[in-house]
Amino acid sequence: MRTIAIANQKGGVGKTTTAVNLSAGLAIRGYKTLLVDLDSQCNTTFTYLDPSLIKTTLADVLVGHHERPPLLDAIYETHIENLDIAPSHIRIALLERTVQIEEQYRLKDSLESLAGYEFAIIDCPPSLGMTLTQALLASSSVVVPIAAQYYPLEGVVDLTSTIHATKRPNPNLNVLGYLMTYFDPRNRICGEALNKIQEMFPSLVFETIIRTNVKLQTAPAFRESIYEHAPESNGSKDYEALTDEVLSRLSMNSHLRVVREAVK
Ligand SMILES: Nc1ncnc2c1ncn2[C@@H]1O[C@H](COP(=O)(O)OP(=O)(O)O)[C@@H](O)[C@H]1O
Ligand SMILES: [Mg+2]
Repeated sequence: MRTIAIANQKGGVGKTTTAVNLSAGLAIRGYKTLLVDLDSQCNTTFTYLDPSLIKTTLADVLVGHHERPPLLDAIYETHIENLDIAPSHIRIALLERTVQIEEQYRLKDSLESLAGYEFAIIDCPPSLGMTLTQALLASSSVVVPIAAQYYPLEGVVDLTSTIHATKRPNPNLNVLGYLMTYFDPRNRICGEALNKIQEMFPSLVFETIIRTNVKLQTAPAFRESIYEHAPESNGSKDYEALTDEVLSRLSMNSHLRVVREAVK
C-alpha cells in the first residue's frame, strides 16, 4: 500500500479538498483506496459519511491507554466504488498529547495491518504537532497544497524541515509534490507565488494547478466528490489531472478506468 499524507500546517489551503478528490480520483481509476481523516474538524469524514451512521472512529483506534479496536472496525464504505474511509472524531485532537514512541507508530501499525488497499490518503490537521508526526511516520509520500492567494511560503519551509526530520525514523518518506491551489490566472499575486515556489523547490511543484472554483466549495454539502458534483467544472478537470500526475510520479498506470469502460 502507498500512503500519501496531504499536509500543510496552515488551514484553508485545500488539504481536505485535495484528500477528498484525489482519493476519489484514484478509486475511480480502479485503485482500492482508504481515505484517513486525522483532522478533528471531520470535514473529510462528513463529505462522505452521514454522522449518524458512524460508530467507531479513528479516535477509538489511536487514542488512549485502554483496549483499542482494530482499524478495520473504523472503516466504512463510501458510495464511490473502491473508496473506503476511516472517520475522524473531535477526540482525535488528543493525539497531540502523544508522548511515548510506541504511540507515535499506532497509525503506521494500523495501516500495515490492513490487506487489500493500494492507497491510503491521509488528511492532516492544520498543525505541525504530534498528529502530523504520526501521519508522516505512516507515509511514504507527502503532497503539500499551497494557496496561491498570498505569500504563505515561510510555513512551507517549516513543514519541509519537519518532513526532512522525519526521514530519520522513516527514510522512505518523500515529498511527492507541492500543489498550487486557489489559483486565479488573472491575479498577479498568484503568478508570483507560483514562480516563488518553483524557485524554492525546482521539479517538485506539480505541473497541475488547482484553480479557484466555487464547485469545489459546494460539492461537500451534497456529500459528493467534484467528479459527481460538477464533472465539467475546472475543479473536476484539475483534480483529474492531479490524480494522473500523482500516478505518473509514482510510475503507476492511470488508465485503469478506460480499460474497465472498454471491457463493459
Ligand atoms: N480551488 C478551490 N477553489 C475554491 N474553493 C476552494 C478550493 N479549494 C478549497 N476550497 C474551499 O476552501 C475552504 C478550505 O479548503 P479546505 O480543503 O477545507 O482546506 P484545509 O483542509 O487546508 O483547511 C473550503 O470551504 C473549500 O471548499
Ligand atoms: Mg482540512
